Amino acid sequence: MYKTILIIALIAGAIATTIVSCTSSEAGKPAETAISKDSLVKRGGYLVTVGGCDDCHSPKKFGPHGPEVDMDRRLSGFPANRSFPKYDSNVVKKGLVMFNEDLTSAAGPWGVSFAANLTSDDTGLGNWSEAHFFKAIREGKFKGLDGSRTLLPPMPWENFRKMTDDDLRAIFAFLKSTKPVKNIVPGTRQIAELK
Ligand code: HEC
Repeated sequence: MYKTILIIALIAGAIATTIVSCTSSEAGKPAETAISKDSLVKRGGYLVTVGGCDDCHSPKKFGPHGPEVDMDRRLSGFPANRSFPKYDSNVVKKGLVMFNEDLTSAAGPWGVSFAANLTSDDTGLGNWSEAHFFKAIREGKFKGLDGSRTLLPPMPWENFRKMTDDDLRAIFAFLKSTKPVKNIVPGTRQIAELK
């Protein structure tokens, strides 16, 4: 009889220990999530760098080594306080394409396009959800909205749309973590609006 009670007590003790250890590993969960969020942002940063987003989306400074990304304004698009690039419509009419000095704007048969602000500011992607970002890259929709116009060249969304969901999620997490830079990029222009 005593032996049976002892066995029951031992089993009850083992169950209690299991419950306690499960509860404490639950408590460890937020830390794990924080680490994976960090690594998501880190991977997104890597993809943005190797994906060449800076080429068009970051204003550059001209130093002794040529154009360098202006890290204070990284990924903030064509600077609104800069004068309009002096594109020649005759060149475009010959079927050629022109870029401004730091590749944040281009003129071609599609008109004049300006690289968007991708920083976490409200004038960038601050108000975007992940769904907006997926729609912009996968379907080439301006602002990631249904019914908006198709993104213009030279934004290579038809290449980037092949990225995996995980890669796009990582890029978006990184862009949301960037320093906010206030910059309202000008709207596109038609060739007829050029001199
Ligand atoms: C060769 C130049 C170029 C490169 C490289 C480039 N972009 Fe773009 N991107 C643009 C231009 C120009 C626009 C604006 C197009 C328009 O107004 O239709 C744009 C627009 C966008 C938009 C839509 C913004 C909006 O407000 O709708 C997103 C999102 C975007 N780019 C993300 C990226 C990411 C992420 C990368 C790197 C993986 C990248 N771009 C690389 C030129 C580029």
